[in-house]
Amino acid sequence: MHSHWRDCKAWQQFGTPWSTTSNEACKQFDASLTQYVGWYDDTSVGGIEKSLDKTLEADPNFVMGHVIKNGLELLGTGTNVRLNKDLANGIDTMVKLAGSQAGLSDREKKHVNAVKLWSDGEMSDACNVWEDILMENPYDMLALKFAHDTYFYLGYSTPMRDSLGRVFPQWKDSMPLYGYLYGMYSFGLEETNLYAEAEKIAGKGLEINPRDAWSTHSMAHVLEMMGRQDEGIKFMSGTENNWSTCGMLSCHNYWHWALHLIEKEDYQGALGIYDNHCFNSAKASGAPLDFVDACSLLMRLEMDGANVEGRWKDIYEVIKSHEDDHVLTFNDNHILLACLGAENKAAVEHLMTSIKDWLKQCKGDQVNITNEVGLPICEAFVAYKEDDPARAVDILYPLRYKIIKIGGSHAQRDLYNLFLIHAALRSNNPKHHKLARFLLQERKSVKSCSPMTDRLIQRAMAQHVD
Ligand SMILES: [Fe+2]
Repeated sequence: MHSHWRDCKAWQQFGTPWSTTSNEACKQFDASLTQYVGWYDDTSVGGIEKSLDKTLEADPNFVMGHVIKNGLELLGTGTNVRLNKDLANGIDTMVKLAGSQAGLSDREKKHVNAVKLWSDGEMSDACNVWEDILMENPYDMLALKFAHDTYFYLGYSTPMRDSLGRVFPQWKDSMPLYGYLYGMYSFGLEETNLYAEAEKIAGKGLEINPRDAWSTHSMAHVLEMMGRQDEGIKFMSGTENNWSTCGMLSCHNYWHWALHLIEKEDYQGALGIYDNHCFNSAKASGAPLDFVDACSLLMRLEMDGANVEGRWKDIYEVIKSHEDDHVLTFNDNHILLACLGAENKAAVEHLMTSIKDWLKQCKGDQVNITNEVGLPICEAFVAYKEDDPARAVDILYPLRYKIIKIGGSHAQRDLYNLFLIHAALRSNNPKHHKLARFLLQERKSVKSCSPMTDRLIQRAMAQHVD
């Protein structure tokens, strides 16, 4: 084990001591946290899965080892305690262990509580607990990062920004993992439309560490939202070697690159990225973060008029084992797109029934969001596929300002804006054609440089006869 990872004493000196006497457990915990924050697998420690396992091998009673392992499995959003007995047992073990250790700190108890809440579907409550931790100890990077990612899943863009805004000034630049705060803060700024500040902060993060995939990602968002496609392509292609090795995020960063290509009608380029990176990553990892991007890219390409050929069937094969997960309604929406794209009616029916059964049987933030927004979105997608775009518009238009609740970024949720416009254009209701023109004006007003919007405006005006 490399000497630079923090042992028991180093964590104590840093200000976030952990309840274990095993230096090896502390070092492996540090390695796990570092890889999580940096979105990469460090080959010198055998990758993040290995360091998570080694943390607990070194000290099976290390509560925070259980917290980070369970927390990461949950936040990966590809499984849950309903369907995964090992994970459910892991949560039980963590809770029991915490209850049996008299010396556990209040901060560690809160960590256990937050992960337990998340596993019960109470994601927003979990964030409140992580924020409690940060009020007491602004250096608790695990609390900060878990909260950051969960805010993202909940569409809580302002809390995501402010969470960093509160603690960032309290850190010193000599502290381990300090540089990663820039990418996190930048993303919060970007998601609250503060593009100039976000760009500056992401730039600083990249100055400190050009391989910081989250700062790269935030920069990609700024360029996307500002309609700077040429710069975006240049930035992503020019820095590819720095971030493509961050396996947990590279698919998503490639997705951002492909968005610029679709804007510029370079479908072959976008499909090349899809085939070589997004689909391959999704197939290799099976991770929702990867397969939602693959589905999103195919849908965008198809809506814009590209021929995606047999790709829907291939991606459906990758996602089909997740049809009953229901961890995030955002994931479910994208899984449905794959079922519809593959023209697999049985899969569509299965998914819709499975979602409705889950809504009846479970509770939590995602149940509420699915009832309010996620299920209607699914119904709109189905209606569109069944050649009833007018119904898709009638369902989605009144809900559009609530779609942020399904989480993800503005750029990811733009899929729904585009879908509504396409449905309105295809509708047989002339009022919907007018709506499409208005929505396109609105789109142009917030992002003036968008060849895709211009193409859609041309299409809408060709349809406009009155
Ligand atoms: Fe993104």
